[in-house]
Amino acid sequence: MTKPRIGIIIGSTRDTRFGEKPAKWLLDIAARREDIEVELIDLRDYDLPFFNEVSSNAWQASVNEKVLAWQKKVGEMDGYIFVTSEYNRSIPASLKNALDQAYVEWNYKPAAILGYGAVGGARAVEHLRSITVELYMVPVRSTVHISGTEFFTVWHGGGDQPITSIEGTIGQSTQEMLDQLTWWARITKAGRAEKGKV
Ligand SMILES: Cc1cc2nc3c(=O)[nH]c(=O)nc-3n(C[C@H](O)[C@H](O)[C@H](O)COP(=O)(O)O)c2cc1C
Repeated sequence: MTKPRIGIIIGSTRDTRFGEKPAKWLLDIAARREDIEVELIDLRDYDLPFFNEVSSNAWQASVNEKVLAWQKKVGEMDGYIFVTSEYNRSIPASLKNALDQAYVEWNYKPAAILGYGAVGGARAVEHLRSITVELYMVPVRSTVHISGTEFFTVWHGGGDQPITSIEGTIGQSTQEMLDQLTWWARITKAGRAEKGKV
């Protein structure tokens, strides 16, 4: 079996976002592993419209070209790490829209999460877990939360220190999250192949 491909998805798209900083740090850490292939997926590159299809592609193929390009990219992956901020106690609309714009491509694949914010994105992370269940995904147990003092240390609106400066706090949960994600990605990849799914 080929190595599982993992997509690290940057959930926020605003011009002055922080999200790409932890996402790039995570890419660097994950790329050191020999048991997965990793790719950074930036929602900005897909320029998705707000959902305007007749239905989810669970029921009917989507039409919009940008949506189809997004679905193709999602379908290439065997697992995902969502890098999410917390906007008013949930995930940013950009990420929710991107999740809604595919369906079958997410199915039977694991989802890991890195959340950031004053409380480590905890409320957004739990919402996101629930969304992944609806999409037939496997949310892994361990999560990376960049919270409290650490968040304000690395946040670009605060201390703007590199994420490596807080590895002492988030390093272990990152490794645990990657281990769990990799295990599930391998298992679900084999399971999908057995069922003849992508
Ligand atoms: C619309 C909006 C709502 C926010 N709501 C929350 C919140 O509920 N909890 C929180 O910890 N931070 C909240 N924040 C602060 C964000 O944690 C902070 O702005 C962060 O940088 C957002 O991620 P981004 O820069 O990748 O967009 C909010 C920020 C915005 C712009």
